[in-house]
Amino acid sequence: TTVDAHLDPRAEVAEIDRRIFGGFVEHLGRHIYDGIFEPGHETADAEGFRTDVVKLVKELGVSTIRYPGGNFVSGYRWEDGIGPKEQRPRRLDLAWHATETNEIGLHEFQSWLDKVGSDLMLAVNLGTRGTQEALDLLEYANTSVKTARTDERAANGRDTPFGVKMWCLGNEMDGPWQLGHRNATDYGKLASRTAKGMRQLDPSIELVACGSSGRSMPTFGAWERQVLEHTFDDVDFISCHAYYQEHDGDAREFLASAVDMQRFIESVVATADHVAALKKSEKRIMLSFDEWNVWYMSTWNEQAVTYGPDEWPVAPRQLEDQYNALDAVVFGDLMITLLQHSDRVRSASLAQLVNVIAPIMTEPGGISWRQTTFFPFSLTSRLTAPGARAVRVAVESGTFTSERFGEVVNVNAVATVDDDGVSLFVVNRSLTDAASLRVDISQLAEALGKELTVVESHLLHEHDHYAANTLAEPERVGVRPVEDAAVAASVLTASLPPVSWAAIRLA
Ligand code: AHR
Repeated sequence: TTVDAHLDPRAEVAEIDRRIFGGFVEHLGRHIYDGIFEPGHETADAEGFRTDVVKLVKELGVSTIRYPGGNFVSGYRWEDGIGPKEQRPRRLDLAWHATETNEIGLHEFQSWLDKVGSDLMLAVNLGTRGTQEALDLLEYANTSVKTARTDERAANGRDTPFGVKMWCLGNEMDGPWQLGHRNATDYGKLASRTAKGMRQLDPSIELVACGSSGRSMPTFGAWERQVLEHTFDDVDFISCHAYYQEHDGDAREFLASAVDMQRFIESVVATADHVAALKKSEKRIMLSFDEWNVWYMSTWNEQAVTYGPDEWPVAPRQLEDQYNALDAVVFGDLMITLLQHSDRVRSASLAQLVNVIAPIMTEPGGISWRQTTFFPFSLTSRLTAPGARAVRVAVESGTFTSERFGEVVNVNAVATVDDDGVSLFVVNRSLTDAASLRVDISQLAEALGKELTVVESHLLHEHDHYAANTLAEPERVGVRPVEDAAVAASVLTASLPPVSWAAIRLA
């Protein structure tokens, strides 16, 4: 079917904050140990970091990385991860039923971030700990004044502050599974007084209050309102977390996942703005979508290992989802949706990066490889130039019927426009219909003052939607050019097979 679209640069959403291309590293499973850190590995550098993984993380193009959790942070003592390694305590990680060796802590992680070229976003423990410990960490990380804490930092090898800009006030405090879980009022009060103290110490930081850990949480909406009623003046962001998966082989319903994300974002924006109205404030709270991905959570629950009371393994294989082509198409659509809301989604973190629900996989002593989801992330990040603006693309396509969302458009797209050209990201969600895309770009060509041609294009599509990259076949799925993508008379034409994602760069 022919799909007509129109790209007018005046339909601008916002200049994109690069933090929308963030990632997330948690002390969980083989993410850190036997993932990014494997001292015996043939590619390991002097600090024990796998350089093959560093290379892939750079290629992925992640801006800010949230650390150290996740559920893990709600029981974490950050002091365990500093000082001489041989003196660091081994601790039980209650969130994931594992032993944490604390070989990697703040200093080592920062050193790894310097290698991959990403910025640190830290979460403080508001589960088992409180305001004082958050202040201790902030002083240790961000202060240049000579104090007992900064002397300790210097003794641990770092004279200059880490200068961490973004801070999460706890993690998923609405979730009954969370250590130190609280109701919205109790959390809101704790987050407010912690935020106030942190700002007294360092007014330049940006703070994220915990929103809901999913749109289906029973407290969704009320949680955001109540938390923001307490923290509105103290924070810059409210977080959103969402994971999607194909249930019972229903690919059609899975392909509508981005509609859920869209509704999630719009509901949280409405709620935050409702609190602004109550407070008669012009301030706008931004969204930090700091956990999003495809995650086969139901499979994990079914297969979850139950450990004996004395079994607390170090770096067990946990949450090692294998992603297929269908997952990557949905994933690409989620990225399109984040960009479509970049006026309010000013930060987002793909959860997670290596081995744990991750775009990058490693085998101990062996290879590392790109999962299918790697491609839409790295291409969207790379083809969105610094300073680019997100522009809405008006698409007239057919629809399919979703049980949850009613009529859902087959084709969804967004453009990122910079001074040199435009990148178009487009998904064909239809299970059956190929799309012959025709995009009128005349207004864009006029605004940029030049004729545009296709300079690169990438298509992610597999006849077998369930094809995946594995240890045995690490390059089974990749991207290839959109063969017929071309511009003639200011119209871009391109064919998109059913269940496909594409990126097309015009300059
Ligand atoms: O990303 C995996 C887990 O999902 C995180 O630890 C937690 O915050 C969320 O429930």
